[in-house]
Amino acid sequence: MSVAHILRGAVSCAIQAPSSHNTQPWRFRRRGEVLELWLDRERHLDVVDPLKRQALMSCGCALYNARVAIRAEGWTDKVELFPRSADPDLVAELRLGLPRAATNDDRALLSAIPRRHTNRRPFLDRPVSTEDADELIRAARAERTRMFRLSPQRKQELAELVAECDRRRFADPAYRAQVGEWLVPAGRLRKDGIPFAEKEFGTPAWFGVKRALAQPDLGAQLGAIEEDRVIGAPVVAVLSTQADEDIDYVDCGQALEAVLLRATILGLAAAFVDQLLEYEDLLARVRALTGVDMMPQMALRLGHAPPLARVAPRRDLHDVLDESD
Ligand SMILES: Cc1cc2nc3c(=O)[nH]c(=O)nc-3n(C[C@H](O)[C@H](O)[C@H](O)COP(=O)(O)O)c2cc1C
Repeated sequence: MSVAHILRGAVSCAIQAPSSHNTQPWRFRRRGEVLELWLDRERHLDVVDPLKRQALMSCGCALYNARVAIRAEGWTDKVELFPRSADPDLVAELRLGLPRAATNDDRALLSAIPRRHTNRRPFLDRPVSTEDADELIRAARAERTRMFRLSPQRKQELAELVAECDRRRFADPAYRAQVGEWLVPAGRLRKDGIPFAEKEFGTPAWFGVKRALAQPDLGAQLGAIEEDRVIGAPVVAVLSTQADEDIDYVDCGQALEAVLLRATILGLAAAFVDQLLEYEDLLARVRALTGVDMMPQMALRLGHAPPLARVAPRRDLHDVLDESD
């Protein structure tokens, strides 16, 4: 198989990665045997994600999938993050390394890519074994990120912070407006955004989106729902990095996708509760919950859940990949 063909396959895996509000904030360019991953600034949500943490983390998730695809084709992967200081939006260059035999684990990760979906439902009252949780922790560590599983007491504390975050963010009209642009009612042909029916509130219809976002106590309602879901999750975890630079966001994104694919293989569902990290005081309290002096970048709940009724759409390969040669 040609290198171009393998890299194209890597992009088709990359674009199935999770992204903040399903913005899919990435572009790919193949130059000969090099695949470039660019942050698409036009898809960055400045109100929701002022530091670009979530956008770069999303790119990290996409990069991880591309690497999985290359390894499953029987090659090592070579990655350079932020290779050109003059081009800060060039997140990574990816190349094939040396030929090697693909392992069963490579193939398992590859087959988990299309089966991984964010599942925001309440999780079933079924525990997750320590062995499984430890596997997730190891998957994060391999990507230079620490994953902390919170004790029941700390989980309760995090749940209260998540509820406080929801009350604050939905009190902000600019936040509501930006989030509203990425909630997609049933029947739309958009290939990005979150299908509204999959969110915690409302009906799938267009008026349902409008009506939900107009409710003055939306933050309190959502906060209460999220609080219960965090408390009811068998695993609540925080992913943290040593530093807080763009490169750490990309690394944490790679770790996040590594954890999510591993969770998929183990039959676990996952949902994100990271918005609270955008508030400095809440972030400081999450950091205290982990008990170490590292930067929390993501909070997740994991457990068992019934399958989803519908999944989030994606843009097509030709919308995001430029092959100039
Ligand atoms: C960095 C990042 C942050 C996210 N934050 C949230 C969140 O706060 N709430 C939420 O419901 N989903 C969150 N998501 C999940 C996305 O909404 C989801 O990945 C996207 O809609 C695509 O759906 P899929 O994951 O099912 O493919 C986040 C995803 C990423 C990568």
